[in-house]
Amino acid sequence: MRVLACDGIHEDGLALFRNAGWTVEVSEPIKDAAKLAAKLEGFDAVLVRSATLVSAESLAKAGALKVIGRAGAGVDTIDVEAATARGIAVMNAPDGNTLAAAEHAISLLFALARHVPRADAGMKAGEWPKAGLTGFELEGKKLGVIGLGRIGATVARKAQGIGMEVAAHDPFLPASAAGKGSVPLMALDELLAWADVITLHIPRTKETTNLLNEARLRTMKKGAFLVNAARGGLVDEDALLKLLDEGHLGGAALDTFVTEPLPKDSPLRGNPKLILTPHLGASTGEAQQAVSTILARQIIDFVATGAVAGC
Ligand code: MLT
Repeated sequence: MRVLACDGIHEDGLALFRNAGWTVEVSEPIKDAAKLAAKLEGFDAVLVRSATLVSAESLAKAGALKVIGRAGAGVDTIDVEAATARGIAVMNAPDGNTLAAAEHAISLLFALARHVPRADAGMKAGEWPKAGLTGFELEGKKLGVIGLGRIGATVARKAQGIGMEVAAHDPFLPASAAGKGSVPLMALDELLAWADVITLHIPRTKETTNLLNEARLRTMKKGAFLVNAARGGLVDEDALLKLLDEGHLGGAALDTFVTEPLPKDSPLRGNPKLILTPHLGASTGEAQQAVSTILARQIIDFVATGAVAGC
């Protein structure tokens, strides 16, 4: 059996493949669909993170391919319909990076509240940039969590631990779930108008693309903050820039973008009210070790016995 590991898959998972007798080939991200199609010929499995996009075109010659493994939570970078039509299973490892993603969202909250990146940049530029960097305290502030799945619920629990008042909107939870957990559920517009800070933890789908469009961003409190460490495209980036420039929003932290890597000339890069990180949510040693080993076990098992997990 042969597996192609793109996008920097943790070595511990690759070792499991080798121990099971598989041949492992490691590759840089393959962005070009035609190149990926040519490369996939003869492989039984391919592993990706968020850089290599597995489109229908890239599967054109993948006659031997049995499994596409996403070493992470979402499968939005894979054309699942095209894979299914070709009889290729798609697996992810949604449990492995929950803590990493939640902790990154919390770190962005603190960074926004205390201007950490601007303070650091000023110090390294030889300044003592104390004036103008007065922040705010998170304790007592209202955090609106959009998406109360694994990551959103972990963010909610951690935010409650630092004394934030937390409420959530979850498009996938039935209304009957309201009042059952420790996090009150609200309608989206109600949550947006209530929160001092909004944090997103939902997948990108047809329904959630541009969920926070200009009209919705305008319903946020004046001076409110936004964190998106979930998926690019959930927030309309142009509208966000407009509302930051107008002073309607106090600031935002983005870890995910409509186009990744973020183009060098993106106007997002020049906005002082924005904190930007390069899709680092899942990038801890612990999370990468976990997702690669979970995925390797699932795939080895699937190919040997047909057992299906993480689909
Ligand atoms: C995920 O889907 O869990 C992450 O976006 C994957 C990653 O960046 O490795």
